[in-house]
Amino acid sequence: MGSPEQELLKKIDFDRLPQHVAIIMDGNGRWARRHGLRSRTQGHRAGIESVRAASRTAAELGMKALTLYAFSEENWSRSKTEVSTLMSLLRRFLKDEIPELMQNNIRLVASGRLFRLPDDCRRQLEETKRITGANSGLVLNLALSYGGRAEIVDAARQIAEETVSGRLKPKDIDEAAFTRRLYLPELPDPDLIIRTSGERRISNFLLWQAAYAEFHFTEVLWPDFRKRDFLLAILDYQQRERRFGKT
Ligand code: IPE
Ligand code: IPE
Ligand code: MG
Repeated sequence: MGSPEQELLKKIDFDRLPQHVAIIMDGNGRWARRHGLRSRTQGHRAGIESVRAASRTAAELGMKALTLYAFSEENWSRSKTEVSTLMSLLRRFLKDEIPELMQNNIRLVASGRLFRLPDDCRRQLEETKRITGANSGLVLNLALSYGGRAEIVDAARQIAEETVSGRLKPKDIDEAAFTRRLYLPELPDPDLIIRTSGERRISNFLLWQAAYAEFHFTEVLWPDFRKRDFLLAILDYQQRERRFGKT
């Protein structure tokens, strides 16, 4: 008998691995409360280890992409202190994580209304993207200041501008043309979307791309989410029959 993780690994069908997994990392605040900690921030801090574990697992299994919902457009309306702590944790993560990303051949990218991020965060994001830019393994996409509706509106606005200027003809606007104007058109649609903390909603995440995604919900709070939980989600996904509208 190997470790429980090794036993789970043996059950995974590597020919049917989800290529792109997206995670709604939820429950940091409740984790802090449950641990009797005074501030929600400590839950966010603890969640960083889960981000590391998830990226490592995705890279190790050989997935193409992992998208992590780190901060939504709506999260800007949280308290000023919570927002600024999240932003400084983000900046620190982007800097401190570089050796780990390099070691695991992970390329970091981001999607969302990134212009809304504080300057120091944006600069660090650009720097980390540049340094990891030639890595050929997992693409780790951080959804930051991200909203699914905002992404669709931003694409629609771009299409309108191109149409008005005559570069795009209305008859050429189809799903492929629309997809090309989303934040990261090169990423495949997510095969599997995981949400932690027992909530069962999409909270404005990847609305366009989720058209045929499978969903996995777990009660585990994000700071407790580890390799074992990720493997369980993949095994759950592998039980599903994906039909894409066919019989
Ligand atoms: C998820 O945890 C992290 C972010 C949304 C930034 P929450 O902060 O939403 O934690 P809960 O849902 O209040 O427990
Ligand atoms: C979704 O979690 C956003 C992120 C995980 C970044 P929230 O905690 O913000 O979502 P709601 O408010 O419960 O829907
Ligand atoms: Mg939450």
